[in-house]
Amino acid sequence: MAKNADAIEARLRALKWIGAKESIVELAPAGEGNMNRTLRANLGSRSIVLKQSVPFVAKYPDIPAPLERASVEAAFYAAASTSDVVSRRMPQLLGYDDENRLLCFEDLGAAQDFTSLYAAIEADDIHADLISLIDWLGALHALDIDGAFANNAMRELNHQHIFVVPLLADNGVAIESELTPLYESFTHDEALGAHAQRLGAIYLGTASHDSRPVLLHGDFYPGSWLNHRTEGAMVIDPEFGFKGAPEFDVGVFTAHLTMCGYRQSAITTLLENYHAPDGFDSRLASGFAGMEVIRRIFGVAQLPLSADVETQAEWLNTARTSVVASGAYD
Ligand SMILES: Nc1ncnc2c1ncn2[C@@H]1O[C@H](COP(=O)(O)OP(=O)(O)OP(=O)(O)O)[C@@H](O)[C@H]1O
Ligand SMILES: [Mg+2]
Repeated sequence: MAKNADAIEARLRALKWIGAKESIVELAPAGEGNMNRTLRANLGSRSIVLKQSVPFVAKYPDIPAPLERASVEAAFYAAASTSDVVSRRMPQLLGYDDENRLLCFEDLGAAQDFTSLYAAIEADDIHADLISLIDWLGALHALDIDGAFANNAMRELNHQHIFVVPLLADNGVAIESELTPLYESFTHDEALGAHAQRLGAIYLGTASHDSRPVLLHGDFYPGSWLNHRTEGAMVIDPEFGFKGAPEFDVGVFTAHLTMCGYRQSAITTLLENYHAPDGFDSRLASGFAGMEVIRRIFGVAQLPLSADVETQAEWLNTARTSVVASGAYD
């Protein structure tokens, strides 16, 4: 897409996403991203963000990736637009071109995401943002959604990375040498494996859960939050969204707070701001949180963590306990 600004400009004009007199002054990457081609188009008096999905991971073209993620993202924005609380913390979707799997967004500016939180937590500084985010999540989970919102191909991809690869012996992932004994014990732990499998089945929708199925963001972590200059935390990138157990989003959220240095007591207090759907099971959420911690240390998608290995080993042991305590296994 970046190579052909003239063709993009013509397409944007044909789609009426830009006016007849507008033209692209500059086209540059919108920010860090792996999966898709994401560009900022400077139009002189305004700018827009374009996001295109291709049938592979944009940064690693050898790795296939489901093409329909763009249409899922567009459908998510349409659902979000039915709620003020949800839509005001997201950029506006200005258009979707199904033929080119191309999304067009309001530009939130050169806002940083929140991944710097793994390096140094300034708990007071971000408390208000975290309250906004958990409030947003509760409003999302309260939406009344038509249709299945299955997103099966993306779910299957994520299922491998969250529930399978991290507990696979010799998974080929580079792991801190001090953590290798723990990794090896996890791969041989039958109870952990069985519970991970059950959580994975709930994630895929092949096992039941008591909570009401709701629309999930699907990737609710600091890389999906942008720190807007005036509005604070904004939410982007719902391409892994689907209708499923609300405990998954909450679990991922809390796992990342742990990896940002938050204590469990602070997380519990923060979660008092979450409006949980009927039947919400906090043990199930803790189980998903445990899997997210395990996969971010023993899996492929690792994070710029600053915590020492002793701390990471503590998180891992707590994660293991939470997974095994996450519900009945039969
Ligand atoms: N509406 C927007 N306004 C401003 N910047 C944006 C906007 N959308 C995306 N960006 C920038 O582009 C980056 C990549 O966007 P996004 O996360 O949606 O793409 P992605 O390909 O799904 O990334 P990843 O592979 O990390 O999931 C964001 O981190 C952000 O810096
Ligand atoms: Mg993404």
